[in-house]
Amino acid sequence: MTIIVTGGAGFIGSNFIFYMMEKHPEDRIVCLDKLTYAGNLSTLAPVMANPGFRFVRADICDREAVFRLFEEEHPDIVVNFAAESHVDRSIEDPGVFLQTNILGTQTMMDACRKYGIKRYHQVGTDEVYGDLPLDRPDLFFTEKTPLRTSSPYSASKASADLLVQAYHRTFGLPVTISRCSNNYGPYQFPEKLIPLMIANCLNDKPLPVYGEGLNVRDWLYVEDHCRAIDLIIREGKTGEVYNIGGHNEMRNIDIVKLICKELGKPESLITYVTDRKGHDMRYAIDPEKIHSELGWLPETKFADGIVRTIRWYLDNRGWWEKIISGEYQNYYEKMYGNR
Ligand code: NAD
Ligand code: DAU
Repeated sequence: MTIIVTGGAGFIGSNFIFYMMEKHPEDRIVCLDKLTYAGNLSTLAPVMANPGFRFVRADICDREAVFRLFEEEHPDIVVNFAAESHVDRSIEDPGVFLQTNILGTQTMMDACRKYGIKRYHQVGTDEVYGDLPLDRPDLFFTEKTPLRTSSPYSASKASADLLVQAYHRTFGLPVTISRCSNNYGPYQFPEKLIPLMIANCLNDKPLPVYGEGLNVRDWLYVEDHCRAIDLIIREGKTGEVYNIGGHNEMRNIDIVKLICKELGKPESLITYVTDRKGHDMRYAIDPEKIHSELGWLPETKFADGIVRTIRWYLDNRGWWEKIISGEYQNYYEKMYGNR
């Protein structure tokens, strides 16, 4: 099989490529990525020379480039990871989120319609369900929870999901959608909570916790997410949505304190800063459907995954130090300078 993986130079996409090339060495993987600030070609260095792998630099909104690639590769499956993914950036500048996340999804599906496809898989997010109150720990997001978005990012991802469902109903495109909770693990861009706190801790810089740090996220080790997507594209039913999460809810402040402890840094580095606008309180996935229908369960416990992740950032300083020493400096100053 030939699988096009868009956004494969980013965090989850690159982990997915590594997972797939190890698990299914008979498949051909074609990575399509624009290499935005979040894409990093050096991440893919270990697979670049593999004859079963091809990298193509292109924008998923570029119809000509996308259609040309389909003509060349005749893919069986497309997994669309490519997106603008950071909520804070979407609050600063929503436009590119609508462009890539919605219109890019349309372009990919139009190519699938024209050239034919066995499966188009849309990598979605639990943020499309909005948030849950802190005082109702009995509530969880199921696939039937209404979409109720808070940020331009989540609105763009929800729009994309609706478009994917429309292409299934109207054109019969064989689609699936997954909606996963917060991922953590190797190669996550240091603008996101866990790698940002690890990098700042290692550099003895303040740890900027939004609001009171009481917001809850449901953390999943990235490899568990990759395994779930692999199952869905092979065994999932077309037209269906699958929630992915491992019942691992943590308050932000507790994660930051845990990182301090693991790295032997003082909690006095923690600095409470102005809250994120529209900040979602709690995310919590009910993964019953993917468990009962496809037999998926997370394999990595948070206690092990977080230690493995911290160790990875310690062992791969070059990867993230290169990022935070470049253009990222301007971003950091803009977002955190006067916060
Ligand atoms: P990321 O920001 O690390 O990577 C995004 C990748 O997409 C980058 O390589 C970037 O270069 C590429 N890209 C961006 N715009 C593009 C365009 N127009 N054309 C081609 N490539 C483009 O993101 P991530 O955290 O790996 O997330 C991947 C996907 O998973 C996204 O769709 C995101 O919404 C979804 N998701 C993420 C999480 C999470 O916790 N990170 C959880 C659930 C779902
Ligand atoms: O739930 C899935 C989503 O998880 C994905 O769809 C998104 O692509 C991904 O970025 C992530 O979104 P979050 O907004 O939950 O992740 P982030 O790492 O940006 O923030 C996690 C929590 O930590 C959130 O409550 C905000 C808080 N935070 C974040 C940063 C960057 C801080 O307190 N300080 C920070 O500096």
